[in-house]
Amino acid sequence: MARLLLSPVLLAFSLAAASLISNAGVAEAAAWPWHSHWRWHGWRGRHDCISSIVSEEDYASLFLHKDDAACPARGFYNYSSFVSAAESFPEFGNTGRKKDTRRREVAAFLAQISHETTGGWATAPDGPYAWGLCFKEELKPASNYCDATNTEWKCDPGKSYHGRGPMQLSWNYNYGPAGKALGFNGLGNPEIVASDPVVAFKAALWFWMTPQPPKPSCHDVMLGRYVPTEADKAANRTAGFGLTTNIINGGLECNRPGNAQEEDRVGYYKHYGDILGVRDLGPNLDCASQQPYS
Ligand SMILES: *[C@@H]1O[C@H](CO)[C@@H](O)[C@H](O)[C@H]1NC(C)=O
Ligand SMILES: *[C@@H]1O[C@H](CO)[C@@H](O)[C@H](O)[C@H]1NC(C)=O
Repeated sequence: MARLLLSPVLLAFSLAAASLISNAGVAEAAAWPWHSHWRWHGWRGRHDCISSIVSEEDYASLFLHKDDAACPARGFYNYSSFVSAAESFPEFGNTGRKKDTRRREVAAFLAQISHETTGGWATAPDGPYAWGLCFKEELKPASNYCDATNTEWKCDPGKSYHGRGPMQLSWNYNYGPAGKALGFNGLGNPEIVASDPVVAFKAALWFWMTPQPPKPSCHDVMLGRYVPTEADKAANRTAGFGLTTNIINGGLECNRPGNAQEEDRVGYYKHYGDILGVRDLGPNLDCASQQPYS
């Protein structure tokens, strides 16, 4: 009852203060040094929906060529599927007091999925970074991506767990838990990640939002909530966009100065930062001097 006596502003402040304490906000602020030391985690009403960060027009300018005849995913990744999937992850693009923080996270996510599905090349029409979301499925998988030693998420014989969807979800140990979290049969019906665009975007967002120890989630990294362990410090795994690359594909791309895939991700991030009006892309864009996780 006492709360009813508070003005909305005071109520908001008290909720935020309680939330800061429970989220160990001090450590978070310290890990993201160019930010203010005060961060908002509470009160949904203060926040924006995803369409205020990426409008339908923005989406069309980000993914200029996704529906071209040359793109196997033409017609698949429509804006309403993206928005609908994002609504299932209310913290995505919706955490952090500053709008720039929220824009930066969304730019980073869209850059990573664009590299994963790119149809671009150096001299492509409109440049190499106008070709995200061109593919929905790995065309010639090298294997069925079954880790048979994983007994928790047993492969279904005859199913292939190759890259599908915006993040190119791969391996039984990702399909299984993604399906469990999102309500589809990841091991028995992995194909749905390349046939239902809402499920496809949800699977990509699941990967983005979910920590897989010892890896933090990409979401936490982009929000400055990542606190490196001693092992992370020794391996140069510092916060920034480069660490999300390390989380996604570090074994093949990090600690390799000049790696073209890694540089393509950074190129997409800078390009999308421009389109979405991100003022500060943050430090450590690449992972060239970071050790991968394994
Ligand atoms: C987007 O894709 C979904 C799923 O295929 C479809 O139901 C919906 O009509 C599409 N929306 C638009 C605006 O094309
Ligand atoms: C960490 O980065 C520094 C500076 O870029 C580099 O000299 C060092 O070799 C890196 N350490 C590891 C373990 O990669």
